[in-house]
Amino acid sequence: MRGFPTLLVSTLLMGVVAAQSSPPAAWGNNPELESKIDALVKQMTLEEKVGQLVTYSAGAPTGPGTGRNDYKEMIARGQLGSLFNITGADQTNAMQKIAIEKSRLHIPLLFGLDIIHGYRTEFPVPLGVSATWDPALVERAAHVAAKEASREGVRWTYSPMVDIARDARWGRIIEGAGEDPYLGSALAAAYVRGYQGAKLSDPDSIAACAKHFVGYGAAEGGRDYNTTEIPSRLLRQVYLPPFQAALDAGAATFMSAFNSLNGVPASANPVTLSQILKKEWSFKGFVTSDWNSIGELIPQGVATDHAMAAQKAILAGVDMDMESNAYGPHLVDLVKSGAVPESVIDESVGRVLRVKFALGLFDHPYTETTSQDGIAPEDADLARKAAEESFVLLRNDGGVLPIKANGKTVALIGPMADDAGQMLGSWGGKSQAKDVITLRTELIKRLEAAQGHVIYAKGTEFRTTSDKGFADAVTAARQSDIAVLALGEDAPWMTGEAGSRAHLDLPGNQQALLEAVAAAGKPVVLLIFSGRPLILNWASQHVPAIMEVWYPGIQAGPALANVLLGDSAPSGRLTTSFPRAVGQEPLYYDHFNTGRPADGVDLSHPPTNDKEKYVSRYVDEQNSALYPFGYGLTYSTVSYSPTTVSTTTASAKDLNAGSAKLTVSAELRNTGSRPADEVVQLYIRQTGTSVVRPVRELKGFRRITLPPGQSQRVEFTLAADELRFWNIDMKNVVEPAQLTVWIAPDSTRGTPAKVTIGQ
Ligand code: NOJ
Repeated sequence: MRGFPTLLVSTLLMGVVAAQSSPPAAWGNNPELESKIDALVKQMTLEEKVGQLVTYSAGAPTGPGTGRNDYKEMIARGQLGSLFNITGADQTNAMQKIAIEKSRLHIPLLFGLDIIHGYRTEFPVPLGVSATWDPALVERAAHVAAKEASREGVRWTYSPMVDIARDARWGRIIEGAGEDPYLGSALAAAYVRGYQGAKLSDPDSIAACAKHFVGYGAAEGGRDYNTTEIPSRLLRQVYLPPFQAALDAGAATFMSAFNSLNGVPASANPVTLSQILKKEWSFKGFVTSDWNSIGELIPQGVATDHAMAAQKAILAGVDMDMESNAYGPHLVDLVKSGAVPESVIDESVGRVLRVKFALGLFDHPYTETTSQDGIAPEDADLARKAAEESFVLLRNDGGVLPIKANGKTVALIGPMADDAGQMLGSWGGKSQAKDVITLRTELIKRLEAAQGHVIYAKGTEFRTTSDKGFADAVTAARQSDIAVLALGEDAPWMTGEAGSRAHLDLPGNQQALLEAVAAAGKPVVLLIFSGRPLILNWASQHVPAIMEVWYPGIQAGPALANVLLGDSAPSGRLTTSFPRAVGQEPLYYDHFNTGRPADGVDLSHPPTNDKEKYVSRYVDEQNSALYPFGYGLTYSTVSYSPTTVSTTTASAKDLNAGSAKLTVSAELRNTGSRPADEVVQLYIRQTGTSVVRPVRELKGFRRITLPPGQSQRVEFTLAADELRFWNIDMKNVVEPAQLTVWIAPDSTRGTPAKVTIGQ
């Protein structure tokens, strides 16, 4: 125990409990731990209790600041239990020393940070990672982040963001797993397992924080922080499941959201926070507010001052105040005046202490390792693999990709080709641009090794109207065998928090650059670096090869070069629908059918008769996504046999009782000449039910590798978990229904098989 004063050991040991394991069953329901917590709470003054319920940013702000910086004094007085945006072993240990040595009860501090897609080893942005459809990889990546963060004393990450996002305008769509609750739940659990490890008390485990509870991703108009209206069935069916999955995986903390949900701000919402999360789901960790989201109850209109905001938030179930400076100055008085019962404070303090105990902070308050210098080679390899698996090949006409490099000249054009900082996307953690290998650097190396050549031209900037660079770009293309364009969205400006967009085109004059280069007549490969679906209508008609590559992280260059040159094949699949027009948003595959579906109607032109007109459609655009959920190509081709089901009839009663299940399978065959990594997807539809169900819903997926010419039968199980839904009585049950199932390469294909589910 480096720097741990012996004098204090006995006091601290009073609060020590044997190592806790991650799942709440282990650390949330441990009688020995509970009596330690009770004993400690009893020793605390009201001021000390409130101290455990506040957290402040000690570093670069990610929101409006409070103007406070008296953290050291607060810690010494026992009136500050957590800090965030502080990193570095020396820095965290120095603050911890104050808590351990100077504060009366020596309660350790908890240090938090937004470790969203890596700490030092930066992986692709979460939306990119979701396109891997690879929970095992997500878990490993999260564990790398935990290992690097914990070395510096940071034991709490504000991740995973598990908000379902069905609207590409919302900037924070980049931070999550896309539009689907089933995939979102699988990845939410994977993140939590990766961060929290086998035991939360392991020194390289960190506490996860499932955020933003709840409904933040449904912001009206896709505008950040905006109001949401989500009826309770939709909330249960779509928005809550990833949170529940995170909780089931053991998530130690939750963060309340900024948005109003059905008229009640999420950070003062007793139904979601207390009734659902804490009572119904038995969550035993703590809820932190988002940055100033308690203070924002005032402009939202449910509080007239900070005291009232603090009262509403704590009574609703927000245990910790992040940067609102509402709990610190007001909770003590609110208790003294009787406006907040002390028992409420005690419960929240208990929750915070429970997480600190579970993390082993009372035993090991300090980090005993030093900050890692550089990136471990195996972590860089994992970052490269994650990036390669995240790339989604949208079009590859005439087999333009992979590029045969030998002796070839490649024009590399665009503002993303050599911009290290952009590769880190939004929320860079502690990443450093110097760790990034850009596409330009790597491609030059690889082409030179193959007696080839790269001509680089930046072409344009993200935010300019000047076409000064176009001429060089066009000349580069003319002098080359093939042009690779690296275009996209300026990550810090246009993606992530406060990065909503009303337009979804390539920003600036990049579209004009693309068209100018394409006019040079050479084959064009378009790489899109973005944090959301963009509108790619023109490219989908005129550019033979298009690949969505998100922001790939530190290994951007090697991963891109590997895939472009065919050393590996693209295998990512979309987790969000790519629209044809902004007016289609929110656009998502698992929508309900209308009474007038446009099935069989040619929507590629305006209606010409009543049959074409009086259906649910736009008169000036198609309904479908340009590239749908689940879609992605690879360098080989894979055929799917018709879907088969183990039985054509089943009983809802047996399914509900857990005594029945269905087996669904299909035979896949690699019909091409290269190995294929295929993401096999299982979809269902239920009709004849008490409430409308989506036209398709993902209920299973698996990544398989198929060598050329080989076949494999892929089998899924459908049981109560997959078939139940919130019915007309708001019961989550399997109902009698006509069930259609598809095993498919994306959400629009596959051959259906039918099952009748009777009583
Ligand atoms: C605001 C963001 O909404 C949240 O996701 C983040 O964790 C906090 N700021 C802390 O930086």
